Amino acid sequence: MQTFKNFKAKPISGAMGAEVFDIDLSEDLSSEAWTEIQEAFHHYLVLIFRDQNLTDQQQFDFSQRFGKIIPHPYVKGLPEIPEIFKIIREPGESFSWDGFYHSDLMFLKKPPLGATLYAKECPPFGADTAFTNMYLAYETLSDGMKALLDGLEAENESGNPQKYSNKYQSMEELGKKGAMGAIHPMVRVHPKTGRKALFSTLAFTKRIKGMTDSESAPILNYLYEHSIQAHLGCRLEWKKGSLALWDNRVCLHHAVADYFGEVAKHRRVMQRATIEGEEPISIKSYNELNSN
Ligand SMILES: [Fe+2]
Repeated sequence: MQTFKNFKAKPISGAMGAEVFDIDLSEDLSSEAWTEIQEAFHHYLVLIFRDQNLTDQQQFDFSQRFGKIIPHPYVKGLPEIPEIFKIIREPGESFSWDGFYHSDLMFLKKPPLGATLYAKECPPFGADTAFTNMYLAYETLSDGMKALLDGLEAENESGNPQKYSNKYQSMEELGKKGAMGAIHPMVRVHPKTGRKALFSTLAFTKRIKGMTDSESAPILNYLYEHSIQAHLGCRLEWKKGSLALWDNRVCLHHAVADYFGEVAKHRRVMQRATIEGEEPISIKSYNELNSN
């Protein structure tokens, strides 16, 4: 287990994730604390900082240390900080926003580096968020499958913009943009760690470039089922005041919709700040960049 001077990190599973204790993100962080947070972030891919008491501005300021904060293209943000938006499930609603394993906004040319999600209101238990480690999803493929995927690109699409708000009582559509799409490598290289990760999900990946839908569908279905195996991931349990930070480049996540019994009676309000990313780096471009 990795130890840090500025906080305690308790691993969640063998695959990924850590709970972080004994650090207050509303304070000015020392450069040593900041360096350690980045080390933990790159090691665990998802961190959940417990017992925080953050204003909207403090969530924004912490998130902004990783990069520019970008608004959701389809969902209305807070009146004072439009880049941050709330994901709200009212009592009795059975749909889960993000109820499918995905990497956020994969249909952008520059999909997010990551995001922070802050629990404002949540049920006393349940409504976890499940994550999966896409480094491990790639590394556990056969050499034959890796060789097939390494040079491929895929077409990623947003789908109907209204689907991000119209099923939910309390989420408002931004109503500005049409559907979006972007072509990305199916295997991307993390710019900091140099590790390869699978970058594909049925949530957004519609087809492999250069193949028909019928040809690419069995491969995409296989990769999805392979990626979401329980031993490759972890689950975050939410408590009011917890703030999660995940690396959107190398993991998928989804909101577990166990809205039954007691869990169904509670309102759930999560607040997200999305951090701008880079254009995904293919293996070929990474090798070219590093051969000079
Ligand atoms: Fe998401």
